Order: sequence, then C-alpha cells, then structure tokens
Amino acid sequence: MQFNIAVLPGDGIGVDVCTEAVKVLRTVGKKYGHEFKLKEGLVGGIAIDETGEPLPKETLKICRISQAVMLGAVGGTKWDDPNAKTRPENGLLELRKKMGLFANLRPVKVFPMLINGTNLKPEIIDGVDFIFIRELTGGLYFGKPKKRWETAGGRKAVDSMLYSEQEIDRIVRVGFELARTRGKKLISVDKANVLESSRLWRTVAMEVAGDYPDVEIEHMLVDACAMRIIQNPKYLDVLVTENTFGDILTDEASMLAGSMGMLASASLAGVPQEGKAIPGLYEPIHGSAPRRAGLDMANPIAMILSTAMMLRYSLCLNEEAKAVEDAVESVLNHGYRTYDIMDEGKTKVGTARMGDLISKAIEEK
Ligand code: IPM
Ligand code: MN
Repeated sequence: MQFNIAVLPGDGIGVDVCTEAVKVLRTVGKKYGHEFKLKEGLVGGIAIDETGEPLPKETLKICRISQAVMLGAVGGTKWDDPNAKTRPENGLLELRKKMGLFANLRPVKVFPMLINGTNLKPEIIDGVDFIFIRELTGGLYFGKPKKRWETAGGRKAVDSMLYSEQEIDRIVRVGFELARTRGKKLISVDKANVLESSRLWRTVAMEVAGDYPDVEIEHMLVDACAMRIIQNPKYLDVLVTENTFGDILTDEASMLAGSMGMLASASLAGVPQEGKAIPGLYEPIHGSAPRRAGLDMANPIAMILSTAMMLRYSLCLNEEAKAVEDAVESVLNHGYRTYDIMDEGKTKVGTARMGDLISKAIEEK
C-alpha cells in the first residue's frame, strides 16, 4: 500500500529523533511491502528563521494532503525572548488547532526491564499501564482574552481557561470510548473545587456518563491526581483532562517510564477506532532539548513509539505497529540504553545506533 506522510522534524533533538523514526518507517515499508511517501516541512524555530513564521503555509498544505504527520519537537533558547513577535511553539499550536486535533493520547507504560532505572520504587511502578487523554485545542492555550497590557498601576497579563460544552463533551467521549476498550473505568481530572471551567467540565462529564452505563466514572482533582501518579500509579487506567493539566501531568507521569524520551503521543481529530484510519499528528511528549541536539545522544524511542501509534491509528497497520513496539522491547531487553535510561551493566548507545538496532529487530522478526 501507499501512504503520504508529512515529516516535520522541527528544532533541536526533534531532528535527531525524526531521522531514526524515518529509518524505522522505511524498514517497516521494506519488510511489509508498503511505500511511504514522505514530504518534509518546516515548523517551529527553524521555520521562523527561514520564513518568518512558525507554521508556513506550505507546511500546513503538506500536512493537509497527508494521511498523518510526524513531528519531532519545536523550540529552543534561541527563540525564547519573552518579548519576541512569535515563538516556535505557536507553530505547533496552530497546527493542532487548524487540523482539529483535539484529542491527545499519551500512553504511560512502564517497560519491565526499566523499572530499576527510575526514581521510584520498583514495586510502585511495576506493571503500570495507563493512558492520558489530554484535550488539545482549548483551555488556557487558546482561550481569549489572552494578552499583556500596561496600566497606570503596572503591567498586567491574562490567559483564559475557556471551554464550551461541545469541546468538553467530545473529549470526554473519547475517554469513555477508550475506557470501554480497557478497564471500563474513566477518571476525569479537573479542579472543580476552584475553577468555573472545571465545574462545567464535571457537569458535562456526568451528563456524558449517562451514555456509557457500562463505564464507571471517577472525578479526581488535579492536585490529587498529581499526587496519585507517584503514590499509586497502578490505580490509574484511562484519564481525561483539559489541556494545561494534561501537559503538566504527563511530564510528571513520564518519570514512571524512566524518561521523557520514552513517552509517545498521538493527536487525533476523533475517537480512534479499530479498522478505521483517522488523520493524526504523532510526536513524542518531550521537547527539543537544544543542549543535546546534534550530539547523537537523544533517545529516539518516544518518537519511534509515536510512529507505531501512527501506523495503528492513521494507517490501520496494526501488525506493523506491533512489530515496531516489539522491536523496541526486544532492543531494551538486550540491554541497549540511551544516556537518559542508562543503568549499571547495560550497553550505552547513541541516537543513531538505537534507531539501527530497532530497525534490525524489525527486519529479523
Ligand atoms: C507538549 C509540549 C507543547 C505543549 C509545547 C511545545 C507547546 O510541551 O506537547 O507537551 O505544551 O503542548
Ligand atoms: Mn508538554
């Protein structure tokens, strides 16, 4: 089969990890007889440097004609001036918004061979397997008013955590649908004891729950959730939450898996369904780590696992997705580690070698 894929490496280690993900994708193509037609586009800081905009029209066009988008990372100290006209991150936010990618799936799975390499006790994280569904096109990131201004009494700034009932309804439904395919329990995370937007969130979540009598719903306050993630992560299965809460909680949750370099994500415009291809954007949850860029250090696994999610959700290639995931597991089982997950007695490898090893494991399957 033939597939059009947009590849947006972006900035910093985004470039390093994308190279490896493409390597893996090519291997999958060869092994399973698919042609992946890849088109590269600019996004983020590099796009600002070359075109003046973080999301050039040409990039958006490439994304729109593709079945899926692979994105490395955006941002860097070079573009960090808080008074700059635009920022690399705006490119990513605009892309998510313009493509309607409101559902961000972030699985948190602890690989058994890494449980000694994290900051948490092995017995706490052994067997952890949950998934965050982060609302991605609303809340503080996009709500208006959003501005800075001067007053006689000094400068002020505002961001608005704005949600409509439709936005809440559709994301909570993604949560229920996913919960149906897993443990039939959904945790909706909010701050309903303080925030009005959270009280609407909870109200709508309770209403939607009526359509899913087979799924149990629990409402959890975001501060308690942050605590629960490290206190008893095995308690968690499917969680749904608004944009900013999801951003923060998933960075925290990545520490269970040992490193940000291990966590993949899929951003979708609807509910993922078995056998139905759905357009999506696939990116690791980590950032551009400018200090590690180009040094052959970065862990490409998050990007490679994101690619597996792409094969599954946007291309309906389940067997191929599984092959990539199995290859990652096998390479880790053989003791290969990038610096961020390195442990005593293991073999330290760089970005490219990790990509080679995973590709080889796919070939040899
Ligand atoms: C993420 C990132 C982005 C976000 C940044 C780069 C805009 O942190 O995908 O988690 O905040 O959504
Ligand atoms: Mn983040």
